[in-house]
Amino acid sequence: MAKQKILVTGGAGFIGSHLVRLLVNKYPDYQIVNLDALTYAGNLANLTDIEQKDNYTFVKGDIVDADFLDQLFAEQNFDGVIHLAAESHVDRSITDPMSFIKTNIIGTVNLLNAARKSWGDFEGKRFYHVSTDEVYGTLGETGLFTEETSYDPRSPYSASKASSDHLVRAYHHTYGMPIVISNCSNNYGPFQFPEKLLPLFINNIKHNKALPVYGDGKYTRDWLWVEDHATAIDVIYHEGKNGDTYNIGGHNEWKNIDIINLMIKIVDEQLGRPEGTSQKLITYVKDRAGHDRRYAIDATKVKDELGWMPSLQMEEGLTRTVKWYLENSEWMDNVTSGNYQQYYEQMYADRV
Ligand SMILES: NC(=O)c1ccc[n+]([C@@H]2O[C@H](COP(=O)([O-])OP(=O)(O)OC[C@H]3O[C@@H](n4cnc5c(N)ncnc54)[C@H](O)[C@@H]3O)[C@@H](O)[C@H]2O)c1
Repeated sequence: MAKQKILVTGGAGFIGSHLVRLLVNKYPDYQIVNLDALTYAGNLANLTDIEQKDNYTFVKGDIVDADFLDQLFAEQNFDGVIHLAAESHVDRSITDPMSFIKTNIIGTVNLLNAARKSWGDFEGKRFYHVSTDEVYGTLGETGLFTEETSYDPRSPYSASKASSDHLVRAYHHTYGMPIVISNCSNNYGPFQFPEKLLPLFINNIKHNKALPVYGDGKYTRDWLWVEDHATAIDVIYHEGKNGDTYNIGGHNEWKNIDIINLMIKIVDEQLGRPEGTSQKLITYVKDRAGHDRRYAIDATKVKDELGWMPSLQMEEGLTRTVKWYLENSEWMDNVTSGNYQQYYEQMYADRV
């Protein structure tokens, strides 16, 4: 594999930290530059095991700042970009759509512009945009999203991601920029900010707090072990066809209430509580506005063309996930108390 300098944006977030770890460990000859604004969702404590490696650099910066990006690209001569930085939580997009427009749309265009200006004839370059299955809208009881499914985003989050997908494709068709896009289903695993269903509920079960279930609890999602997503990104970045889109999913559909029941069983078991102890915590609450009923991914293309397959199914993945959150209570306590945001000042203040 030829040496490369890759800019990963959003590498201090949930998925980004798993991807950065994979790239830094797997490709010692590469230079991996992690650019992250360290919003509430970015946490450098997710990367303590690799922060001293020679092939890893962290840069704190905001993709909404076009001048900063132009300067960074002019200085660094990146071979590729893997773009994950985003506002990612649907509920936040309902209360504050504008921050999603800024980061997810304007930030993506700023990155595309900075890459275009510094990349000349694009020889040997690649811009990889990481996106979501939520751009496809909602499914009925049957059917799967394929790469040909029309876009039908229904929340400010998914609309901002759909918009950024279109813009990345537009830079490919208009300027000839080499790009690749993937649209992935719901991820789960270690280091996820506890506003998302799984870490939130694991923590609530541990502390005997209510488990707020939206609507009738029968919303269905396809779930993917986060390290499998990182592996898929690695394969698609290196081997995906220029200009193509790949759907990534776990062939692992669950209704929310079923996954919550499984979570209760596993957490109670790992805490040594009698089976069913935490069942009483389930509390049905008012539904999310515009809540999509069902997402499910057809990931045949990435399997047939690039040989990628998910490695874990839900019971095993969830058991590992619960174990990680219960064993890493310090990480969880720091995040829930807000202390994690001082980590950058402590660790990096003298390096910037
Ligand atoms: N979590 C999922 O299940 C899922 C599924 C499919 C696709 N995705 C996509 O994958 C990407 C990563 O998702 P995640 O769950 O890891 O998100 P996350 O919220 O955990 O992390 C996002 C990261 O982006 C950084 N960031 C936010 N705004 C920024 C800005 N203006 N400039 C620089 N950095 C900024 C944050 O500090 C954070 O580290 C997103 O693009 C998301 O749309 C997520």
